[in-house]
This record gives sequence, C-alpha cells and structure tokens, in this order.
Amino acid sequence: MLSEKIQTALNAQINKEIYSSYLYLAMSMYFESEDLSGAASWMRTQVLEEMSHAEKFMNYVNERGGRVFLDAIEKPASSWENPLDAFHGALEHERFISASINDLVALAREEKDYMSDNFLQWFVAEQVEEEASVSEVIRMFKLAGGAGGGLLMIDRELGSRVFTPPSAE
Ligand code: FEO
Repeated sequence: MLSEKIQTALNAQINKEIYSSYLYLAMSMYFESEDLSGAASWMRTQVLEEMSHAEKFMNYVNERGGRVFLDAIEKPASSWENPLDAFHGALEHERFISASINDLVALAREEKDYMSDNFLQWFVAEQVEEEASVSEVIRMFKLAGGAGGGLLMIDRELGSRVFTPPSAE
C-alpha cells in the first residue's frame, strides 16, 4: 500500500509526464508550421515516449493498491523564436523533470518506501537518456549552423527517429 504522501507525489508526477507529452506535441505543431517535418516527427516520437512514462507511473500506482487522480493539464507554449530555441526549451524541461524525479527518490527514502525507490531508479536512468538525446540535437544545430542547407540536413536526420516502447528496450 502506498502512503498518502507518496501517492500524492506520484500523481503530481503523472501530471508532469502528461504535460511533457502535451508540450512536445505543441513543439511538434510549431515545427509543422515551420515546414520542418523531421523535427515535427522527432517531437511526435517524444509525445509517445512521455505518454509511456505516464503509463508506467499509472500502472505502478495501481499495482501498489493506490489511486490515480487525473488533474488539469497546463497549457503549453505554442511558438518559439526558432527551432534551436524550441530544443533549448525541451532541454530545460527535461532538467526540470530530472529534478522532480530526484525529489521523488528522496521522498521515497524519507518514507522508507523502498519499493517506490526501486521503481523510480528506472526513471533516474531514463532521465540521463532524455537529457542526452535533446542535448545531441542542440549540438547538431550548433555544428550545422541552424539555417539553410544545414537545417535541412538536420531535419532529415531528426525524421529518422522511431519510438521504442520501454518494455521493448
Ligand atoms: Fe518523461 Fe522526458 O521525461
């Protein structure tokens, strides 16, 4: 059984994961409006990834006999200064999520809920990848100079990303 405190914190994290999905959907729509279909597709993959994170949390809460309460999802931004600015926003958001996961681990240990601590370790590792994959895109933009032919090349590369469900990793 989950403590009330942990259940509340896990529900808050579910909301953050669904918001992440919504934010990346907004970024995908921004890229569509800029005719960057590769970047739009990269973000669509990220949308699925975030929903799979939310599902993993929801399944865990249910498995532990807890209750998931869905809350309102904050409205995301709808436009960015340029494509690089959007990816900077994504990196900033992933760092915020990493900090949130770290706080959850700290709370689980404080509450001596080692099952939740163990469950959360998957997300600790996942956040390393999440931050790294966005940083990699930012590096590509900087190297190719983010405009003209360089931008087209990056867009083609971003379009090759495919979603791998966590259970298949
Ligand atoms: Fe679910 Fe991108 O962290």
